[in-house]
Amino acid sequence: MNDPCTALAPAITVSLPSATARSYDIYINNGILPKTGELVRSVLPSKKAYILSDDTVFGLYGETVRNSLAASGFEVYEFVIPHGEASKSAENLVLFLNKMAHDRITRSDCVVALGGGVVGDLAGFAAAIYLRGIPFVQVPTTLLAMVDSSVGGKTAVDLDEGKNLAGAFWQPTLVICDPDVLTTLPADTFADGCAEVIKYSMISDRALFDKLHSPIAPQLNDIIRMCITDKQALVEADETDKGVRQLLNLGHTVGHAIEACSDYEISHGSAVAMGMVIITRAAEKKNICPVGTLDAVVNLLEAYKLPTKCNFSADALFAVATADKKRDGDHINLVVPYGIADSRLLRVPATEVLEFIKLGLGEV
Ligand code: NAD
Ligand code: GLY
Repeated sequence: MNDPCTALAPAITVSLPSATARSYDIYINNGILPKTGELVRSVLPSKKAYILSDDTVFGLYGETVRNSLAASGFEVYEFVIPHGEASKSAENLVLFLNKMAHDRITRSDCVVALGGGVVGDLAGFAAAIYLRGIPFVQVPTTLLAMVDSSVGGKTAVDLDEGKNLAGAFWQPTLVICDPDVLTTLPADTFADGCAEVIKYSMISDRALFDKLHSPIAPQLNDIIRMCITDKQALVEADETDKGVRQLLNLGHTVGHAIEACSDYEISHGSAVAMGMVIITRAAEKKNICPVGTLDAVVNLLEAYKLPTKCNFSADALFAVATADKKRDGDHINLVVPYGIADSRLLRVPATEVLEFIKLGLGEV
């Protein structure tokens, strides 16, 4: 029998040393979505596959994925949530867990996360805790989810007190990226993903930074692969975010505060863009990075239609940033650019973060 997957080779394999995680493949191929069932079948013997998706994504791609899974012998179930961050909730988590229990999902069955970061984080957390852990597959449909949230096993839901406050490290069994699905993304959602791409370039990837100065469309698959490869290295070195993986938080300490101060009206990607500007301006003013770094970052973000100005006060952002879960006692590990493609962790007293934010907003 012809193996329909033989023509496809994974672009990347993530290899983890931990007891709970195993290696998993990441496919990046145009038009791969109808092969979801074959690819999942090639790694999982499950009888049942539970698709978790949001209403927008499921309307566009649900049938393709459902049919593909069914054709590969899976009994397919669906749980569709309203689109948007508000759905990444404890309420939806419990609803989904109860649905899986009602449908007699067992440890050898699997969850298929079809959507952006909201769906992937929720589905992953449900898979992590249902029956103390069942396999799950990431089928990311936003640029942000392809380059960041679908890889690395951070799963979570939001609580009343803040984003991602309940979660687990739970690695997917497989990641399937079909860049063709990005053609239906709204422009601002695509831009959100570009913020994370620019983040990788500023952390350590000069080649990516240079590439981003040419039109992105013809090199999209390459760019997705480069970002995932950057993330792979950090996740393999530090799966549980105790050290170097924290570099992925460039722009996020202030970015999360911006999201919270806006009552989550400002998207994650936009907030990260503003956060990167604030931390770069502060670094430049403190002579940590050379003059010109800020202009380079702002110009790139603007070229990708991302916001670079923030209207919240330093005091408001500081109050939220220092309550963030990334705080470590009285200190915060800030990710600070020392130049283009050279960001480093700087452990600073929480009180010093206010100075960074004030400098970054141009308040002093
Ligand atoms: P999202 O999942 O809310 O998707 C954004 C919007 O795009 C939604 O309305 C969705 O319905 C729509 N959409 C998705 N794919 C589409 C497509 N192909 N065509 C048309 N519309 C489509 O948001 P996101 O930006 O993908 O993810 C943000 C979330 O990811 C946040 O909750 C953030 O905290 C989380 N995140 C997690 C990690 C991690 O490591 N786990 C990393 C970064 C971000
Ligand atoms: N998105 C940050 C991380 O995965 O660590």
